[in-house]
Amino acid sequence: MQRSPRVLIFASAGEVAEALARRVGEALAHKPDLVLGLPTGRTPLLLYAELVRLHRAGEADFSRAVTFNLDEFLGLPGDHPSSYRAFMRRHLFDHVNADPSRMNFLDGAALDPLQECERYEGAIDAAGGIDLQILGIGTNGHVGFNEPATELEARTHRVTLKPETRHSNAGLFGGHPDRVPTEAMSMGMGTILHAREAVLIATGESKARCVARVVNGPITTALPASFLQLHRHAEIFLDRAAGQTLDG
Ligand code: PGA
Repeated sequence: MQRSPRVLIFASAGEVAEALARRVGEALAHKPDLVLGLPTGRTPLLLYAELVRLHRAGEADFSRAVTFNLDEFLGLPGDHPSSYRAFMRRHLFDHVNADPSRMNFLDGAALDPLQECERYEGAIDAAGGIDLQILGIGTNGHVGFNEPATELEARTHRVTLKPETRHSNAGLFGGHPDRVPTEAMSMGMGTILHAREAVLIATGESKARCVARVVNGPITTALPASFLQLHRHAEIFLDRAAGQTLDG
């Protein structure tokens, strides 16, 4: 039986981005109204740059694509420059032909976050579910804002951010961890596992240890990404540094 997630190791972070961008471009050609789940963070920056390049080369048409971002800070309106919505505009949406009416974000400024999380789940269902969910991973195994814990919430939910997560997001807030919101909203692991395909990308040596546990360790809420082992069509794209303890 094929192991899940399937592991692909590329020579460099650039090759990871190229391979996944090609995959997205092909999926869009095959299904123009593809429903994409998208992450933020440092890792996908090369992917987004490559998607912009492919778009300019006429190889990635986003005009009918539907997108759902994984998570958002609580308390930040979407036009706040530190919001994940602004991140997506800066790095992808301002540079491709994506239709704003088909982009979906959690509204960090929603007055009723619980209701907002329910609305998001409903919107994903109404779009027919996510076709291709792209994911990053934290060094502690978090996915989206699903942090290691004794229990995980399956669906989109409100989360309190761990100090280390606020620290790693400080770059979006002028380098000040104390300015990073203390709460966020995130798709749950159940939302993520419902996607028809999932591709997790990890690059750099700092991810190697946790990637090895995701691939070879037990499924545990202490490592949310380990739940990808339950998915039939999950893949992990790694560069050599992140895959150094795996044989691929
Ligand atoms: P990174 O973050 O891509 O900036 O390493 C990944 C994550 O925390 O999900």
